[in-house]
Amino acid sequence: MTKPITVLDLQHMREQGKPITMLTAYDYPTAQLADEAGVPILLVGDSLGMVVLGYDSTVPVTLDDMIHHGRAVVRGAKRAHVVVDMPFGSYQTGWQDALRNATRIMQETGCGSVKLEGGVRSAETVQRLVEAGIPVMGHIGLTPQSVNAFGGFRVQGKTPRDAVHLIGDAKALAEAGAYAIVLELVPTALAHMITQRVSVPTIGIGAGPFCSGQVQVVHDLLGIYPTAPKHARRFAELGSATRDAIIEYRTAVEAGAFPTANESFYMDEHALDLIRQMAPSAEQDMSEAERVLREVEDAPRSASTSDTPTTVD
Ligand code: KIV
Repeated sequence: MTKPITVLDLQHMREQGKPITMLTAYDYPTAQLADEAGVPILLVGDSLGMVVLGYDSTVPVTLDDMIHHGRAVVRGAKRAHVVVDMPFGSYQTGWQDALRNATRIMQETGCGSVKLEGGVRSAETVQRLVEAGIPVMGHIGLTPQSVNAFGGFRVQGKTPRDAVHLIGDAKALAEAGAYAIVLELVPTALAHMITQRVSVPTIGIGAGPFCSGQVQVVHDLLGIYPTAPKHARRFAELGSATRDAIIEYRTAVEAGAFPTANESFYMDEHALDLIRQMAPSAEQDMSEAERVLREVEDAPRSASTSDTPTTVD
């Protein structure tokens, strides 16, 4: 039995300087594959809204959406630590709401922790959740739920004032008890400084190589969409591979080349003959045939009926 990864294991990885890999997953098969590939943290990100549900931003994603997908990911992950994003509106209205909603996520998905966005402004909420026994991952830099306030997906912390604020945000989260902090779209040097100044792992996305770990959106690294952010690397081209496979399938159906005999199922000739006799034409009323079959099935088994197959193999 594989031992599931805990937040303590992640802290040990940071202390040992072992880079931590985190990947988003939104469904059972992806979770299974990423788990088998040895990824220690699976994030059920609210990026779900953009890469799976087709919204323009993460704002429309609901708590029920997150719980629905979180449950599927937890079912697929045997070893990975699963963290589920708290969606927009589920924690900004006060720590009491946050605690109620985080409790739902933990109870209804079986995940290992939750993630929420914001630094100093979210620190009290993080502290309350941690005190209640809910491990929390923080998220600062570009926080996609505030994309409307940021005016787009832009690199954060480029001016001295913004950089100082971001360092303060990271420290506030670590002091509040966050077990790790995502740094999104932060200049490499600043992400490095933050990583050196906090005692918990930093997980970067568009934050350079000096974080304790990296997170990517699985659709970006698999090349599902034609474009991906600058910080993402396409490790496969599954978008075009999927489209080509579906075109091949449609072409085979249209040409009558799918399915073949090998892809089809057969039934016993005796059973087929019986059906032909009982239902010789399309107009035949099947209730009479069903009555005869019931009689055959109810009769004591004899040499002539015992081998009459009635199921498709
Ligand atoms: O929702 C998400 O996928 C995220 C990552 C970008 C860190 O929060």
